[in-house]
Amino acid sequence: MSARTWTVLELLRWTAGHFESRGIEGARLDAECLLAHALGCERLRLYLDFDKPVEDAERARFRELVRRRADERVPVALLTGSREFWSLRLAVEPGVLVPRPETETLVGAALELFPESEAELRILDLGTGSGAVALALARERPKARVTATDVSPRALALAARNAESLGLADRVRFLAGDLFAPVRGERFDLVVSNPPYVAEAEAAALAPELGHEPGEALFAGRDGTDVLLRIAAEADEAVAEDGAVAVEIGAGQEAVVREGFEESGFGPTALHRDLAGKPRVLTARRRAARGGGI
Ligand SMILES: C[S@@+](CC[C@H](N)C(=O)[O-])C[C@H]1O[C@@H](n2cnc3c(N)ncnc32)[C@H](O)[C@@H]1O
Repeated sequence: MSARTWTVLELLRWTAGHFESRGIEGARLDAECLLAHALGCERLRLYLDFDKPVEDAERARFRELVRRRADERVPVALLTGSREFWSLRLAVEPGVLVPRPETETLVGAALELFPESEAELRILDLGTGSGAVALALARERPKARVTATDVSPRALALAARNAESLGLADRVRFLAGDLFAPVRGERFDLVVSNPPYVAEAEAAALAPELGHEPGEALFAGRDGTDVLLRIAAEADEAVAEDGAVAVEIGAGQEAVVREGFEESGFGPTALHRDLAGKPRVLTARRRAARGGGI
C-alpha cells in the first residue's frame, strides 16, 4: 500500500491478495469488513463507492487493521468489535469467545424442541460467553425467561451489555458460577450449552486465530468432553418433566456424550448437523418418570 492515491476497489483487491498469500480463509470478505470499519460505513456501501479515493487518515487506520489481521492473526470480529449472530448485532471483545456461525445450529435445534413461539419457557444457557445463544432464544421466544451462567465475570459483563442494547435485559438474568451451581434447586424447560469442548491434545494444531480466544472457553480435558459429561450428569436435577437439553459438540464426541445423557435419564437423543454437514448439536428429551406401581 504505497503513498499514491488508492480507490476503494484497489484497496480491496490488494488486501484480499495479501490475506490470501498469508493463508487467510475468506480473504475478500475480511478485507471488506475491515475497510468498511476503517471508513465507518456498512460493508455493502463499498460496492457503491468502488471508484472513490480513500483519504490518507482512513488508509492509515485501514493499514493498521490489515497488519493486525495478517501478522497477528487477530480475528476480524475482535478488530471491528462486533459480530452478527442469528441476525443480532453483538459486541465482542478480547477475553470472551467470539460467537461462531456453527452455533446457530444450536439455536435452531433448541427452537425445534419447543416450536410454540408464545411458550412461557424457563431457559438456562450454561457458559453464555457474549450472550449469543441466550439472547437469540430470548428474541425468538418473547415470553421466555432466560438465565445465563458463566465462570468468566468479563463474559457476563459483556453479555449483560449486549442484552441491554438489544432491549432484552428484562427477561435475561446473568449469574456467575460453575455450570448449574448458581441455579441449584431451580428447574428449567430447556437447558442449552455451547461449552468448551476442544481436546487439550489438539491445542498445537489449532488455527492461529484461536490463540486470541480465552483457553477456558475452548479446552475441556484430554478428549474435550469433560464439561459436556458434567452437564450430562448434572442436567437430571435441573431439567423439568417434559424438558429437554441441547448441547454443541465437537468431532467424534457424539457417542460418548449421547451415552452420558442416556445414563442420566435422557432419551431419545437426536443429532443435528451444521451447514458444513458436520455433527454439531445433540438434543435429548427428559425421559418420563416411571410411575410407581400399585
Ligand atoms: C465455547 S464458549 C461459548 C460461549 C457462547 N455460549 C457462544 O456460543 O458463543 C464457552 C463458555 O463457557 C464458559 N465456561 C467454561 N467453563 C465453564 C463452567 N464450568 N461453568 C460455566 N461456564 C463455563 C467460558 O467462560 C465461555 O464463555
